[in-house]
Amino acid sequence: MRALVTGGAGFIGSHLAEALLELGWSVEVIDDLSTGGIENIVSLKDHPRFSYVLDSVRNRRLMLELVDRADMVFHLAAAVGVRLIVEQPVWTIETNIKCTEIVLELCSRKHKPVLIASTSEVYGKLNRAKFSEDDNLVLGPTSKARWCYAASKIIDEFLAKAYYAEKKLPAVVVRLFNTIGPRQSGEYGMVVPRFVQQALENQPITIYGDGSQRRSFTWVGDVVQAMITLIQQPGAYGEVFNIGHTKEISIYNLASLVKDLTLSQSEVIFVPYEEAYQPGFEDMGRRLPDISKVQKLIGYRPNLDLPEMLHRIIEYQRTRIKAAA
Ligand SMILES: NC(=O)c1ccc[n+]([C@@H]2O[C@H](COP(=O)([O-])OP(=O)(O)OC[C@H]3O[C@@H](n4cnc5c(N)ncnc54)[C@H](O)[C@@H]3O)[C@@H](O)[C@H]2O)c1
Repeated sequence: MRALVTGGAGFIGSHLAEALLELGWSVEVIDDLSTGGIENIVSLKDHPRFSYVLDSVRNRRLMLELVDRADMVFHLAAAVGVRLIVEQPVWTIETNIKCTEIVLELCSRKHKPVLIASTSEVYGKLNRAKFSEDDNLVLGPTSKARWCYAASKIIDEFLAKAYYAEKKLPAVVVRLFNTIGPRQSGEYGMVVPRFVQQALENQPITIYGDGSQRRSFTWVGDVVQAMITLIQQPGAYGEVFNIGHTKEISIYNLASLVKDLTLSQSEVIFVPYEEAYQPGFEDMGRRLPDISKVQKLIGYRPNLDLPEMLHRIIEYQRTRIKAAA
């Protein structure tokens, strides 16, 4: 089997590429390195079944060739991270919609199974204990740039479903909840790598808002295994699946846990959202997935719990800091 992974030099994409190679697949990656990094795939570069192209998914002519030689396509390339989204909404909207249009159109022409990475952000301001795939999606106003990420991913989902319904394209959509692991960058607003970095450097651990907001975190290895299983499962085509963890933690408790596990001297401080992002920034109180749909179809369940995930991420970060010193 030969997979094309768009955004394969990113955090999740590079873990997906690694997992596919381990399963004996050939893997081709396309990435423009806008938020990803070549260091994420450096260990794969000499693998005989691995190749990569540094270019944009927006290069339709190139994508036609890449889709043609793949058996299946994992589309992960996107503008990602709250900070990037609020600072660069034009880039976000154009990247997320145009790239997905190209991928779906070409996969449809060549009839190649495709997986589209969506996000729990699409649930927006929905106020429920757990989010299910068929729940209403409740976004904020267009005056608040943060919602452009969710809106663009909703269009991606509609488009994937439309290609399935009208053109019989074998397309599956996954709504990823916070996914964590080594190689995730804290630069664009991701909370766990930022806290770990701050704690290891004994810098203040900065909580945006009052820290009472609750989130669940899923190990990247669990997420990529679910993706690989779903794209090969005909029962998944035309469907949307939540992928996440069912245990949640407040951001304040997350900061304390990171501080304890790193034996850090850092103080924990609070930064108002308007300072961290922009005036009027809205955050959600809770975001927890109902994973019964994906559990039922492929037996998915998250394997790692938060302390173990954090332990592995901290070890990874420590090694990087030592190597850089
Ligand atoms: N990490 C999470 O917690 C999370 C949660 C929900 C959804 N997702 C989705 O998962 C996918 C992967 O996210 P990630 O966390 O690995 O982020 P990431 O930023 O590490 O990966 C995205 C990759 O896409 C690349 N890219 C962006 N635009 C491109 C383009 N036009 N052409 C080629 N490459 C391009 C970037 O350089 C980067 O390597 C995204 O679609 C994201 O929306 C991630």
